[in-house]
Amino acid sequence: MKFFIDTANLEEIKEAHALGVLDGVTTNPSLMAKIGVKGTKAVNAHYKAICEITDGDVSAEVLSTNYEDMIKEGEVLAAIDPKIVVKVPMIEDGVKAIKYFSSKGIDTNCTLIFSAGQALLAAKAGATYVSPFIGRLDDVSTDGLQLVEDIVDIFENYGFGTQVLAASVRHPMHILDCAKLGADVATCPLSVIKSLLNHPLTDKGLAQFVADAKKMEE
Ligand code: E4P
Repeated sequence: MKFFIDTANLEEIKEAHALGVLDGVTTNPSLMAKIGVKGTKAVNAHYKAICEITDGDVSAEVLSTNYEDMIKEGEVLAAIDPKIVVKVPMIEDGVKAIKYFSSKGIDTNCTLIFSAGQALLAAKAGATYVSPFIGRLDDVSTDGLQLVEDIVDIFENYGFGTQVLAASVRHPMHILDCAKLGADVATCPLSVIKSLLNHPLTDKGLAQFVADAKKMEE
């Protein structure tokens, strides 16, 4: 299972990379706005800076919602770095854009997936990744993990090469459940990745080892 970090914050990306477990980065307009980056030139420079930290794929989302503009924007984004994956919303023009990008060999991540039917459509159009938003589904009393399971099953049935990228991940159990279900990727905030480190028995055991190690000193 690949771990992507879900942030546009360069310090967090560096920290996750330094941990040695980072396989890529996802961003979205809200995450970019949160760090205060503005204007096409600065935004594109920021994506380049992210690509220089990670060895893996970097999702950069188009801001337009019509086919022609998504194509123009996506081609500019893809030219920034070979690691860029053009993130496209699950709308009718988005599906057409994914088909176009796929025919040009440009990788895509179809975002805002909330049903298995949407994932199937994106896979048929040739998406590299589909992003089911599991936390946002849980927020409205709908089982986000069931959606991941359904998409994994459907893609396996037909041998789609599209990868299932679990997004809107809120806590460590989301990661573990997605891993059990066979999701290809989980994209998570740094705090959620780091929460996998923690167990009170590890802390207790280490404290004992450190205390006993002192007894071994001459
Ligand atoms: C990533 O690709 C998604 O945009 C992100 O995971 C959404 O997360 P949120 O629901 O916490 O905003």
